[in-house]
Amino acid sequence: MDFKVWIHRLVVLFTLWDGRVEAGCDVAITPASIIVKSGDPVRVTCSTNRKDFKTIGWNAPVSPVMKDKGGKAIWSVDNLTIRDAEVRCFLNLSAPPYHCEKKLHLFVYNLPEPTLELESGIHVNDTVNVTCSVKGQHPTNTTQRLLIPGLKLNLSSVNGKPVISNFKARKEHNGLKVICETHLHLPTATYQRNSSVTLNVSFPPVISPRLPVNPLITAGWSLESQLTCAADGNPRPNIRWFKDDKVVEPSKVMDWGDEGLYECVAENTHGRTRRSVAIVITHDYLPRIAGTSAVILVFVLIMVIIFYVIYYTKNKTGQYRIEDRKIMFTKQGVGLNGGTDHIVFTPLITL
Ligand SMILES: *[C@@H]1O[C@H](CO)[C@@H](O)[C@H](O)[C@H]1NC(C)=O
Ligand SMILES: *[C@@H]1O[C@H](CO)[C@@H](O)[C@H](O)[C@H]1NC(C)=O
Ligand SMILES: *[C@@H]1O[C@H](CO)[C@@H](O)[C@H](O)[C@H]1NC(C)=O
Ligand SMILES: *[C@@H]1O[C@H](CO)[C@@H](O)[C@H](O)[C@H]1NC(C)=O
Ligand SMILES: *[C@@H]1O[C@H](CO)[C@@H](O)[C@H](O)[C@H]1NC(C)=O
Ligand SMILES: *[C@@H]1O[C@H](CO)[C@@H](O)[C@H](O)[C@H]1NC(C)=O
Ligand SMILES: *[C@@H]1O[C@H](CO)[C@@H](O)[C@H](O)[C@H]1NC(C)=O
Ligand SMILES: *[C@@H]1O[C@H](CO)[C@@H](O)[C@H](O)[C@H]1NC(C)=O
Repeated sequence: MDFKVWIHRLVVLFTLWDGRVEAGCDVAITPASIIVKSGDPVRVTCSTNRKDFKTIGWNAPVSPVMKDKGGKAIWSVDNLTIRDAEVRCFLNLSAPPYHCEKKLHLFVYNLPEPTLELESGIHVNDTVNVTCSVKGQHPTNTTQRLLIPGLKLNLSSVNGKPVISNFKARKEHNGLKVICETHLHLPTATYQRNSSVTLNVSFPPVISPRLPVNPLITAGWSLESQLTCAADGNPRPNIRWFKDDKVVEPSKVMDWGDEGLYECVAENTHGRTRRSVAIVITHDYLPRIAGTSAVILVFVLIMVIIFYVIYYTKNKTGQYRIEDRKIMFTKQGVGLNGGTDHIVFTPLITL
C-alpha cells in the first residue's frame, strides 16, 4: 500500500476518534504538519482566537513547552529523537466540554544508514556473501542497491528489505569496490547514503608467464640484470632464487661455473609457487667486438693523421718553392732563365 495513503488513513482515523474533542477546538497549529529528521530541532506554535479558555498548552512526551500569555503556546525541542510522538495542543475551557485538543501531524524520519556485510579474510575460490541493508530505519520507505562496478553487479530491493548476493572470489576481484546505496523516499525529498568497502581477496603467488624456461645469461653480469622473476599474489609475495637448494642472491655476478638448473620461488602466507629455469651461460662477445672495433678505429685515425701530416708538410714545401720562384721571378726580371719559369709554376695553380 502506498505510504501516503497509509498516513492519510491514519490521520482520518485519529480525526474520527478525536472528533468530539477536536470538533470544537478552535486552535491553530503552525506549521500544521511537520516532517523532521530525527535529532533536528522543532518549534511549533499553537494559538486560539477564543476568549473563554483558561489555559492553552501542549501535551507532549518531549519538553519543553513555553507558554505565552497572548493566547499562544510554543512547543520547542532542540533535539527531537522520539519517533511517533503524540503531540497535542489543548485548551482548558470554563464551560463544557471544559477541555479540547488538537493533534500535531508530526513525522520523524531518520536517514537510511547503509550497512554492508561482507566476511573478512576472503580467499580465492571462497563463496563471498554480501548483504546491503538498512538498520533501524524509519520509515522503511527505502530502496537498497548493491553495486560492484567491476563485476557489473547492480541489484536492488525496496521497502527496507536487504539485498543479498554472493559470488565466487577470483584473484581479479582483489581491489574491487563494493558499494551499498540506500535511498529514502519522502514526499518532500529523497535522501541517499552510501557505504563502500574494497575487496581484499588473498591468493597464493602466480609467477609471471614471461619468465623464460631456458634463459641465456652472459658471464660477467649479475643475475638480476638479465633475468626477472615476477609474481602476483596477495599478500605481496617474497621472491627468491635457488640453485641446488641454496639461496642465490639476485645480485650475484654470473660466471662459467654458474650454469645449471635454477628455481624461482615466490611465497606468501597463502602458498609457495616454484618455477625452474635452466640457465645457459654465454660469452659476452659484445665487449670484445666493441674493443676490437675501438682498436681498429684508433689505428685508422692514426693512419689518417699520419697521411694528413705528410700531405700537409708536402704542400707547405711546395709553397716555399713558389716563394723561391717569386724570388727567382724577380731575378727573372733581371733577365735570367727566360720562359722555363712558367712550367715550374704549375703546382701553385693546382693548389
Ligand atoms: C540528540 O540526542 C541524542 C540522544 O538523545 C544524542 O545522541 C545526540 O547527540 C543529540 N544531538 C544533538 C545535536 O544534541
Ligand atoms: C488542562 O488540561 C490538561 C489535560 O489536557 C490537564 O492536565 C490540566 O490539569 C488542565 N488544567 C486545568 C487548569 O484545568
Ligand atoms: C581455485 O579453483 C580453481 C578451479 O576452479 C583451481 O584451478 C585453483 O587451483 C583454485 N585455487 C586455489 C588457490 O585453490
Ligand atoms: C556464504 O554462504 C554460503 C551459504 O549460502 C555458505 O555455504 C558459505 O560458507 C558462506 N561463505 C562464507 C565465506 O561464509
Ligand atoms: C543500477 O540499476 C538501476 C536500474 O535498475 C539504475 O537506475 C542505476 O543507475 C544503476 N546504477 C549503476 C551505478 O549502474
Ligand atoms: C514512499 O516512496 C514512494 C516512492 O517509492 C513515494 O512515492 C512515496 O511518497 C513515499 N512515501 C512516503 C511516506 O514518503
Ligand atoms: C553515493 O554514490 C553515488 C554514485 O553511486 C553518488 O552519486 C552519490 O553522490 C554518493 N553519495 C554520497 C553521500 O556519497
Ligand atoms: C588483505 O588481507 C591480508 C590478509 O589476508 C592482509 O595481509 C593485507 O594487509 C590486506 N590488505 C589490505 C589492503 O587490507
